[in-house]
Amino acid sequence: MTALEVAGGRPLRGRLRVPGDKSISHRALILAALAEGTSRVTGLASGDDVARTAAALQALGAEVDLVVLDGAATATVAGGRGRLHESAVPLDVGNSGTGMRLLAGVCASLPWTTILVGDESLSGRPMDRVAVPLRRMGARVEGTGDALRPPLTVRGGDLRGIEYDLPVPSAQVKGAVLLAGLGAEGDTVVRESVLTRAHTEEMLAAVGGDVEVSDDRLTTRVRASTLEPFRLDVPGDPSQAAFWIVAACITPGSDVVVERVYVGQARAGFLDVLRRMGALVDVELADEGTADIRARYGSLHGTEVGGSEVAGLIDEIPVLAVAAAVADGPTTFADAAELRVKETDRAAALASELAAVGVPVEERPDGLAVPGGARLRGGPVRSHGDHRIAMAMAVAGMAGSEGAGAVRIEGWDAVATSYPGFEEDLRLLCR
Ligand code: S3P
Repeated sequence: MTALEVAGGRPLRGRLRVPGDKSISHRALILAALAEGTSRVTGLASGDDVARTAAALQALGAEVDLVVLDGAATATVAGGRGRLHESAVPLDVGNSGTGMRLLAGVCASLPWTTILVGDESLSGRPMDRVAVPLRRMGARVEGTGDALRPPLTVRGGDLRGIEYDLPVPSAQVKGAVLLAGLGAEGDTVVRESVLTRAHTEEMLAAVGGDVEVSDDRLTTRVRASTLEPFRLDVPGDPSQAAFWIVAACITPGSDVVVERVYVGQARAGFLDVLRRMGALVDVELADEGTADIRARYGSLHGTEVGGSEVAGLIDEIPVLAVAAAVADGPTTFADAAELRVKETDRAAALASELAAVGVPVEERPDGLAVPGGARLRGGPVRSHGDHRIAMAMAVAGMAGSEGAGAVRIEGWDAVATSYPGFEEDLRLLCR
């Protein structure tokens, strides 16, 4: 396990690009493996999660040439259903819930058995949320215990379409069912009660998938489709941009621009929360659903986060909790029980690690209450093997005052799953 020490007292200044969006990267590789021909994807997230999805697709018979250069990955993928075959080995998706759930959907439509395995953290996460609808479509899916934790065995093929109301708002589950529906007989319809990220349906439509989305965007229908090969340059990941944006908002003297960040459905909710807190955040829309986002230091006040907005900012709660810690007045995060089934139990991890840097957080069953007005101090903290907890605690280090001492993040290596270049970007901004 490695550790990183981050001390405060220096502003963040400059412009940067963050890694390509992780959600889009997984889906781009999967759709390229299913598309009939050769696709090329640039700007992919370079972390371990996406590399593992690429390797899994390769094991299933797609030809994936993945090259990582300067923190971004490029993939050339020769795909098509006719190329795919049973994998000789279990597909090891590492830490990635998105990888496992989306691939489970794909494998449900493939007429053989696939075993999906993951690391210790992923092996504790529930897969029943994808197994239940995939079983209804005709796949046989087995896991461990009632929650069907990994390893996951998927015996696929002969699927029929279903109508499915998502019991928890989850773009991973929506994506898994839609991807399975691409290889099913008849229509597959997914209905959600709150909007979640829309990458699967948007990207499917762009590559010739037979997909329809209702006007209110809550219902998506897909039919068996032949996908066309494509070229895509993946935009920047808003969930990674959020670390620098919050760091700039709470570190005196900071002024940062994150360029070409994806700001589509259910991805930019954290910006609304920051604006509600009084943050100096300017969004300049650029091309293809992206924006350049400028964040400057200013005083923040507390707010209430909850209800239907939560699905659109669940990954940003760790870093928003750091902003809440230093804001004037209390902030509550409610309706966020999903925090507990992420890479770690993020509600518990935030409560313990923020306490370690001087922030007395109250853990609640569905979220957190943060009193605000904290003076951040240094000290040892733990990542809990979770990249977003590690990076949020690095932001707490940046925002500490000069004499506060460094925050030492044990288990910093977790960041390699999504943002291997984080330290380099930190040096770039804090010169
Ligand atoms: C993701 C969906 C979200 C998010 C995760 C990525 C996706 O998870 O937290 O980081 O790419 O579909 P849920 O589907 O569990 O909400």
